[in-house]
Formats: sequence, structure tokens, C-alpha cells
Amino acid sequence: MGESGIESVLSENRTFSPPAVPGGKSPRWHLSSMEDYRREWKRSIDDPEGFWDEIAHELHWFSPWSRVLEWNLPDAKWFVGGTTNLCYNAVDRHVVSGHGEETAIIWEGEPVGPAGPEIRRLTYAQLQQEIARFANGLKSLGVAKGDVVTIYMGMVPELAIAMLACARIGAAHSVIFGGFSSQAIVDRVLDARSRVIVTCDGAWRRGKVVPLKANVDEACDVLASHGHTVTSVITLIRTANTVAMTPGRDHDWHALTGAASPDCPCEPLDSEQMLFLLYTSGSTGKPKGILHTTGGYMVHTYLTSKYVFNLHPDAGQVFWCTADCGWVTGHSYIVYGILPNRVPTLMYEGAPNYPAEDRFWDICARHKVTQFYTAPTAIRAFMKWGDHHPAQHDLSTLQVLGTVGEPINPEAWMWYRRHIGHDRCPIVDTWWQTETGGHMITPLPGVTPTKPGSCTLPFFGVDAAIVDDQGVEQPHKHGGLLVIRRPWPSMLRGIYGDRQRYIETYWSRVPGMYLAGDGAHRDSDGYFWIMGRIDDVINVSGHRLGTMEVESALVSHPGVAEAAVVGMPHEIKGTGIAAFVTLRPTHTPPDAAAAEKFKNTLAAHVAHEIGAIARPDMIRFTDALPKTRSGKIMRRLLRAIAAGEEKITQDTTTLEDFSILAKLREQDEA
Ligand code: WT7
Repeated sequence: MGESGIESVLSENRTFSPPAVPGGKSPRWHLSSMEDYRREWKRSIDDPEGFWDEIAHELHWFSPWSRVLEWNLPDAKWFVGGTTNLCYNAVDRHVVSGHGEETAIIWEGEPVGPAGPEIRRLTYAQLQQEIARFANGLKSLGVAKGDVVTIYMGMVPELAIAMLACARIGAAHSVIFGGFSSQAIVDRVLDARSRVIVTCDGAWRRGKVVPLKANVDEACDVLASHGHTVTSVITLIRTANTVAMTPGRDHDWHALTGAASPDCPCEPLDSEQMLFLLYTSGSTGKPKGILHTTGGYMVHTYLTSKYVFNLHPDAGQVFWCTADCGWVTGHSYIVYGILPNRVPTLMYEGAPNYPAEDRFWDICARHKVTQFYTAPTAIRAFMKWGDHHPAQHDLSTLQVLGTVGEPINPEAWMWYRRHIGHDRCPIVDTWWQTETGGHMITPLPGVTPTKPGSCTLPFFGVDAAIVDDQGVEQPHKHGGLLVIRRPWPSMLRGIYGDRQRYIETYWSRVPGMYLAGDGAHRDSDGYFWIMGRIDDVINVSGHRLGTMEVESALVSHPGVAEAAVVGMPHEIKGTGIAAFVTLRPTHTPPDAAAAEKFKNTLAAHVAHEIGAIARPDMIRFTDALPKTRSGKIMRRLLRAIAAGEEKITQDTTTLEDFSILAKLREQDEA
């Protein structure tokens, strides 16, 4: 295989049949057999319009669509001409149908006082009021349909309220993960030309306060120097740390909503109205604003939530996805897909190991969580912290366990099954992306036999395949490019403001097909096994980082001449960040101690520029980087060195200066 190919070395033969009867007090599975799945999947592929038409009717529309799908590659429109409102379907619909007093959101704060942690429960009726007030507050600041509202908050209910308020009035939101730095805010606000930012004074994380408002203030200053004015900043007081308020620009959340009417009808919105932008890393350049719209995204996330997690209203379920709303997982499976299913969604504010390493299991037991959805990187951390933590808690209410973000290693999968699921909960390993909006390849609980490490088979309506560059489907066990061959309802509609990049990134390498950017293969049962990214993107703790972004952050330090960043194996994160750096003569450290100190400085510099998630795990200083004659950095060599491979078995014929390799390896031994 060429660059797209990754030889499959993993051979996993264990298969687990689905439990015939769901664990705990689970209601029946939505499907009863693999034949059911295959029949429904075939129907969804043979007649996608008929299939999705039927599903969309389970939700509320203000006016019907004239066509289910309009497909002009690479542009899809779903439920053309129909009008709906995602906030209405998530919240108001349940109030109207008499379920207003039921719990919509269960929230638990991080700090644990003598009386335990702070817990808030919001019913659909309360949520509706809070959303309506905040939506009116936004309107009073001039926010209108089509505007982009930036949200940079901790995991508090008001984060979901702010998102849903935008959806209510047809404004788009751009949620920025609270772990990102002020520079990340600057880039995203500028790209989206956003003028309103919603934030918190601070966020609790592992007992400390992350100064969110101060980061926003810093970003606003930099934005002003770029000629961009942020007109309003709304701040929710959460941690009571000291913040500066700029008169005229800054508003207190409660002052704003207290003055607003709780009456704000849901705007009937075109199915293709922009719902949100979510920035994600690419291999080159700045993060791209992935654009999602309303109707198709709503239908797809609703249906995947229902089937993949086996959600049933009135069955006493409590759904918990441990992601942050700053990632697409939080958008789709904390808020937008779960609420329309009328199952309470749990939001937890803080860290998994605060105040102790059993916090998640404590939460599961106290709130009687029935569905638990987390990331492989978290599971590896739980394994390391020890089996005794989950063993101390009653996890018998759990029904379905999910994972997302990166390939799960079979040991972690087995541990999850045994120590969390007690061998009775199906595990759904869900493959999808920011761009796909919702699950694409995933087992269905109670139906699909699972294999540790495989995301198994495509969801309804998903035509996934492994192909070569010509689009030719590859035989079993042959690695190739993972593509989707037809449109699906929650697909991205573009990269905000960059049509060319949209076409080049997703629709050019294999003509006529959506390129996911992952390498994968299928086994003899047709199961999909994801092998990793094919581009210069590394997946750290289940989140994508462009190597370019980390390199730019490094070279923005005056001491750095050149930098190359690659992924390296990491016990907990899956992939860690290795940086090879050449220094300017002015900054050459005189001795080993000074070199170590400077490495720490550079690591902190990257964390400041991007966020702690991008902090390199290893920095190595070198006189030069291995390059081809045309000047391209040979990353695969660096990857081998970073992985500590004994011998470089790779092709080095294009390497310009062979002595560099030897030097890099010498340093390895030093
Ligand atoms: C990339 C997407 C989807 C929300 C979280 C990440 C990797 C995701 C799996 C999985 C193997 C997976 C892929 C994908 N990935 N889920 N179950 N098995 N790999 O969203 O930041 O958009 O990243 O995450 O490489 O392309 P994202």
C-alpha cells in the first residue's frame, strides 16, 4: 500500500454474541435479530428517500418537505422546503404532549461539599423557560437568524441552554471547548465573524478554576487589533472568581435573562438553516468550521440515539455521555440527539478523578445511569487507576456501554465489558466524525455480535466502503480508504467560508465519494476495523489535532527555527505528541539542564497557544530534520524514531542527508 495503506497487524478473533435479554431493567431492544438489521439496512440503501421520510415523520415539522433529498455532488439538501425547529423537538414538543414535569437534564457539579456535590434537575418545562428567556436576551442584544454566536463555557446546564436558545431563534452557535486557549478563540471568532460570545467567569476542573472570562477578554483585545469588534459578552457566574466587566459590552447572564420575557416561540426554520459551526483540525492551515444544518442533522442524531443506545421514553432510563459539549459528541449525544428521545441526559461538570478516581462510578450509581458513553482514552485511564474503583459501586442499572473517538484496543474493550458492564452490557463502538454529525458505523445493541476493536457494520442509510484511490472496493483484509458513497442526513454541508477546501478535503481524492480521512479494512464478516488517519492529523485522546497547528505554535516561539510534529504511541492518550525541533543559534542551550528547561518552556508555549490538549509529550532538539530532496519533511522516519523502533526498515532512498538519521538516533541513545 502507498501512503493510504496501513498494514493490518491486529488479528482479533473473539466474538461476543449479543445478550438475548437486555441487562438491568432494560426495555426490549429496538431490533430483534440480525435479519431485522440487514433487512432495514437494505431498505434504507435501496430506498433512502422512503426510509428517511418515514423516520422524519416521528418528529415535529411546521410545514412539510417537498423532497426528501436533493443531491448535487457534493451538495446535499435534506427535507427540502420543510420547516422545523430542533429546540422545539428537543424540548417544547414534550411540554406540549404533557411531559413538561419530567426531567430533561440532570446536572452534577464538580466540587463536593459536606452535603455532597451540587445537583440540578431541569424539567422540560423549566428548560423551555430558561431557553426562551435566554433567547429573548440574545435578541435584545441584536442577535438575529443566521448570526453566529460563540459559546465558550464550562459544562454547566447553561451551556446546553445557550445552544438550544440559538437553535430556537435560528442563530448558529460555534461552541469552543473550554480547554482551548484565547488564541483558539481569536481564530474561530474571526473565521465565523462572530460578534457575541457567551462565557462563564470560570470553570471547575480538578478542583481548580479555569479563567474562561479572562481568556475571552484577552481574545477580544487581540480581535480588536485585527479590526474585529465583539459587541457583546454574556458571562454566567459559576466559580465567583474575580472578573473584569467592560461596560456596554459585558452582560451578566442572570441580569440579562431576568429582564427577558419567558415567552419566545420557536422560529419555524428551513430544514437547511445553519444550526452550528464546529471547528476541527485539518492537516494544513487553520481549523475548519464544519457546517451543520437543521432538519437532516436532527433526524439522524435522533434515530442513531434511539437505536444505538436503545433509548425508550417512560422506561426510567438515564443517559450519560461523558464528553464535553465543546466536541461534536457533546452536541449530538448530550443535547440534540438525546433530548428529542425524551430520555434524561446527564451532564457532569468536571474531571473523572476528582475528588477521587471513582467519581464516574459514583455518579453512575447515584443517578442510576442506564447508558454510558465515553472514550477509549478514558477507559485506559480507568484501567490504570484500578479495578477496585468500579467494584465499589453498584453499576447494575447499566444497559448499554458506548465508546467513541479512536480505535479501542482490545484489552481496554475487554476491561470495559468485564469491570463496567459485568459481561452483560453490549458495547457499541461508534465510528463517526465531526463531519458526519452522527454515528455511521456501529453495532446495534442486542443484535450485532461484537468483536473487541471493531466498530462492526454501517448504520441505516450509510453506504460505507473501503476503496483504493480509483474508488475500487478492496477485498477483505485489504487496507484502504474509508469512504461513504452516498449522502446521509447529518452530513456536513461545507466548511464555513471555504468551498474550495471542502471540495479538496472530502470530495477530490476518490471521485464521487466522501473521503473520511481514515484508513480501514473489513474482515471476512464484512466488519469494519479503523486503522488510523491517513493525513497529517493525529488523534490525541480521541480528538483531532493537525500536526501543522502544533508546528506553527512551536515556530511562533522566537527560539525555534523549525519544527516537525508526529504522533507516537502513548499508554493513556493512545497517541502522544512528539516534536522534533531545531533551535536558533541564539537559543542553543549550554547544557543538558538548560535544554530540559527550554523543552518545558516550549511545551508550555504550545499549551498557551492552542490549549493543554496540544502540549507535546516529548520534545527532541536536533541540528536538522530529515528531508527529501524537494524539502519535504519525512514524517514517517520521525514517527519510527519517536516510537523507539530499533531499526529503520523504511525506504530512505529519497532522504537528502543520511547523516541526519544517524544523529537523531544517537540522541535517542543519549
Ligand atoms: C476521527 C473523528 C466522533 C466524535 C469524536 C471524534 C476517529 C472516532 C472512532 C471509532 C476508530 C474513531 C477517526 C475519525 N474515530 N470514532 N469508534 N473507532 N476511530 O470526532 O474529532 O471529528 O474525529 O476520530 O479517526 O476520523 P473527530
